[in-house]
Amino acid sequence: MPSANRSGPGPGGAFLEAERATAERAGGSVAIGRPAAGRDRCTTRKESPPGAGAGAVKSYVLRGGRMSDAQKRSYDALAPRYCVPFTGEQADWGGIFGNENPLILEIGFGMGTATAAIARENPGKNYLGVEVFRAGIGRLLWEIEQAGIENIRILEHDAVEVLEKMIADGSLEGAHIFFPDPWPKKRHHKRRLVRRPFTELLARRIRSGGYLYMVTDWAEYGEWALRELSATAGLVNPYGGFAPPREWRPRTKFEAKGLSKNHEIRELFFKVEAR
Ligand SMILES: C[S@@+](CC[C@H](N)C(=O)[O-])C[C@H]1O[C@@H](n2cnc3c(N)ncnc32)[C@H](O)[C@@H]1O
Repeated sequence: MPSANRSGPGPGGAFLEAERATAERAGGSVAIGRPAAGRDRCTTRKESPPGAGAGAVKSYVLRGGRMSDAQKRSYDALAPRYCVPFTGEQADWGGIFGNENPLILEIGFGMGTATAAIARENPGKNYLGVEVFRAGIGRLLWEIEQAGIENIRILEHDAVEVLEKMIADGSLEGAHIFFPDPWPKKRHHKRRLVRRPFTELLARRIRSGGYLYMVTDWAEYGEWALRELSATAGLVNPYGGFAPPREWRPRTKFEAKGLSKNHEIRELFFKVEAR
């Protein structure tokens, strides 16, 4: 999430905070639905039919709502340049980025704080951020433009379907999932993103020797994810349990929130074994 002293569209203001609070109480996330007017530029917004896909994970709730004016301005002006439409077909990522640099996928970047910071530090890698939360997309687009970041593209769609349809086996160098919605209620556990068979699909899409990096501040989800990832074919855990933090990972708003509630941060770092 953006720091308090940074100018720009900001995190969406009181409205967004209220929406997030409601969603968090419900155990989910906030995502902005189709805007009242204007074409949907990033995606065709087809929803997966119930029961389809890698375990039919529906890990988010799309809510109606409005973006801040600045987020909307950034979205309208910059989405055609940095957003990749959802086509349902395998994409030519080298062609889209204009180079064959290694590709890192980030699922659910929120406001894109970590995405932008990591991409700036690693100009020799390409970053594909997949998110359904349009205000966050507007915020990241603003930052891409402000900082002149060349190596980020955004796909506004359900990451499960993107991974199923648009990304080939062995084509990712790594995948980041930072502070996924914990869905704390037992009846909602099926909505958790980090579970099989989705993690098996994700592991297949990552090349041999590549990595999967997840971080959570929800202790029980951390334990759950450790079990799911340890049981995922193709993944190996070089640490045996939770991993030490990567120094290169910047703190996000959700992390700061968790820390303010004395939540412990759990890091999970798995490698994809040689095939
Ligand atoms: C709790 S927020 C964390 C955001 C950010 N990573 C951070 O640390 O601040 C989780 C985000 O994941 C997104 N998300 C959840 N499921 C998703 C899915 N299947 N595809 C794309 N985005 C998803 C939500 O919209 C939300 O913005």
